[in-house]
Amino acid sequence: MPVSLRCTRCGRVYPGDPAATTCPVCDGGPESPSILEVNQEVNLDRDLWERMLARSPRDWGIWRFGELLPVEAVPRMPSGEVLTGGEGDTPLLRAEPLGPRLGIDLYLKNEACNPTGSFKDRVAAMVVAKAREAGARRLILSSSGNMAGGVASLAARAGLRVTAVVAPETSVAKVAQIKMYGADVVRVGPTETDRLNLCLEAARRLGWFTATSPLCPYGSYGAKTIAYEEWYQLATRGARGPDWVVIPVGYGCNFVGHWKGYLDLLEAGFIRRLPRLVAVQPEGSPSLVRAWEEGSEEGIPGPSDSIAGGISQTLTLNARQCLKAMRQTGGVGVTVTDEDMLSAQKELARSAGVFAEPSAAAAFAGVVKLGARGVFAPGDTVVAVITGSGLKDTETALQSAGGDAPGIPARVEALLEVVPPE
Ligand SMILES: Cc1ncc(COP(=O)(O)O)c(C=O)c1O
Repeated sequence: MPVSLRCTRCGRVYPGDPAATTCPVCDGGPESPSILEVNQEVNLDRDLWERMLARSPRDWGIWRFGELLPVEAVPRMPSGEVLTGGEGDTPLLRAEPLGPRLGIDLYLKNEACNPTGSFKDRVAAMVVAKAREAGARRLILSSSGNMAGGVASLAARAGLRVTAVVAPETSVAKVAQIKMYGADVVRVGPTETDRLNLCLEAARRLGWFTATSPLCPYGSYGAKTIAYEEWYQLATRGARGPDWVVIPVGYGCNFVGHWKGYLDLLEAGFIRRLPRLVAVQPEGSPSLVRAWEEGSEEGIPGPSDSIAGGISQTLTLNARQCLKAMRQTGGVGVTVTDEDMLSAQKELARSAGVFAEPSAAAAFAGVVKLGARGVFAPGDTVVAVITGSGLKDTETALQSAGGDAPGIPARVEALLEVVPPE
């Protein structure tokens, strides 16, 4: 399906070049980016939906929904198999007893179940597909860690090289994972602008493909597939679409992907109204939420001070589209503290069996905060998007869980000293 690109700031329209980055006319660099959005006509109807559902999600990954994604063709391996790591098709878990405690019907979309442990696998699938369309051999990206893990994994399958630029604070687990897939990883500081500038300059001088999402404008569209799945998973339970979807926001790709995905479902007549999209950010990194509160059209640059690396950005690069999505859906922005996220992380693990990294636990922390403010109506269907696995940052988790396990002699008496009987 042919696509074109439109600047979200000046409105200029460009052909759908797979290697496009930001608007060549009005972009102001990483501190004032002009993000491009994709124009693509999707003709979703019941027949197409049934055909897509008949494809095995394990063999197709997000490409099961290929007709709804902005690619020339579903990417394939030399054998003809679909180029996928099996991303997508993650569980939608009813959160009992957490939902009833808050008076809502709460679901957790567990994106930690993706192949590399975060929703970014869906975004990475789009970016790697576009890199192949562009004939690229090497990709470069700035990432807090999860996007680089997803890109490195799929690039390894596709035979492409990756250079990942991560922050000095990125967890060792994330770096180990990216390196294991064969990518080159460098830590660059002190600021995120330094990392983005390095990537942009390397891409320009060396001809490498820009895989930093959303500077690769197609990336967010991989996250549309989360919306399709949420809607369908609720529908199979006899529930109507969600009333609210609560999403932790860094650069805003997931948020925009959700919005576009639900717009597809609305246009197809599968839902009657868009769910209200909630953006959750750390108190120490509130670029989008501040913009929303102050009625700005652009993200407001600020500090990036939080334990939640995935959502601790100085600027929500895709803020313009996020703000549009919030206004159109009747959404809300909310900030949470590091303590809120750590306590949500524990509660999710202990009451729902879901081990989330702090950036992902932010979704549930946001639900708790909005619940306490009385924002939800009783019985509302709320989906919290648990964006990444707790195994991505075990140092923080172990500290929060009270430190390492004690070593004891192999005697029941010694065991009872540290594990009191019921
Ligand atoms: C676990 C996790 N949650 C949320 C986000 C934020 O996603 P986005 O940049 O699409 O807003 C990230 C980004 O890396 C992440 O790793």
